[in-house]
Amino acid sequence: MRRMLVLGATSEIAIATLHEFAKEEPWYMILCGRNLSELEKLKTKLESHKCTCEVKHYDTSMSAAEQLQLFNECLGQSTNIQHTKAQDNALATTQTNKVNPLATTQTTEFNALATTTTTAFDASATAATDAYNDAAKDIAMQSMQVSGHQSSQFIGLDALFCSVGYLGDQKKAEQDIRECDLIMQANFNGLLPMLTATAQFFKQQRSGSIMVVSSVAGERGRCSNYCYGSSKAAMTAFLSGMRCSLLPYNVHVMTIKPGYVATRMVAHKKLPPYITASTQRVAKDIVKGFKRRSSVVYTMWLWRYIMAVVRLIPEFIFKRLNMF
Ligand SMILES: NC(=O)c1ccc[n+]([C@@H]2O[C@H](COP(=O)([O-])OP(=O)(O)OC[C@H]3O[C@@H](n4cnc5c(N)ncnc54)[C@H](OP(=O)(O)O)[C@@H]3O)[C@@H](O)[C@H]2O)c1
Repeated sequence: MRRMLVLGATSEIAIATLHEFAKEEPWYMILCGRNLSELEKLKTKLESHKCTCEVKHYDTSMSAAEQLQLFNECLGQSTNIQHTKAQDNALATTQTNKVNPLATTQTTEFNALATTTTTAFDASATAATDAYNDAAKDIAMQSMQVSGHQSSQFIGLDALFCSVGYLGDQKKAEQDIRECDLIMQANFNGLLPMLTATAQFFKQQRSGSIMVVSSVAGERGRCSNYCYGSSKAAMTAFLSGMRCSLLPYNVHVMTIKPGYVATRMVAHKKLPPYITASTQRVAKDIVKGFKRRSSVVYTMWLWRYIMAVVRLIPEFIFKRLNMF
């Protein structure tokens, strides 16, 4: 059974996409998000489609160390569940004992470094970054060493799907930097620890697929949502670089760029129906992109051409337009 880690699993786009994936094959899905009761409901639905799921709390406000711990748990705990099924409890215990102390040590080391950072910010910031990178690499290495003792179906990951997003309030963000921070954190900064840990793991494994929902809003800043747009632009650029860097390691990185999609995120807006997609339509495009190992998926497809035109508009005209 292939295994997928899902961030923002309660998103309407994610729910439709996971059902579409479930139609193709019975995945093992690790559903991460903030609303545990909604995640439990989704788990029940997906399990009726022969998938196996577990639920985990995830919020982009979690520290990098907490996110690394979560990533490690996603690999380790799933291993234990699979092992129980395989009636190999002794090996499962050994593996948990290998992975958990390493994560605890790394979390302690990371926290110690973070404390130092507050007293001597500039010098320690570099050290903390190095420690974080080392910790992520060590976790990936350790996981690979553990998986080397057994068949790969018992541990590891085949795909990451991230559908976390926060539109925010542009007007508020223009006056209150905290709103701007929340938008940046939910759409970019706060996602980096999990994306980086997954990339390290897939690089070591020499396989895997990273699928992240960005947005066409990241292609050009517009007055109506430029905080959200710039966070998505950062994510799009990050994924583009990651795709180049992981290409030699057989890792697929897919940037998903929806235009308008009829979900609760934009329920308060009046959207033009002919260029607004349903979540089912978006889900089909995402699964098709996954199977084809596409780099960039526009959904609906028409947005590729709409944005090509939008990008061509000279700035002296664009700045006078109140588009979309
Ligand atoms: N709808 C559109 O027109 C459109 C267009 C382009 C791109 N997108 C992108 O598509 C993705 C899915 O959005 P959607 O339309 O399906 O909207 P949605 O249903 O509102 O989904 C947003 C998801 O992000 C989660 N989330 C928000 N802030 C978070 C945080 N700080 N930490 C962890 N999770 C957080 C939400 O969790 P909770 O359930 O706990 O709130 C929810 O699961 C987003 O990346 C969005 O930017 C949407």
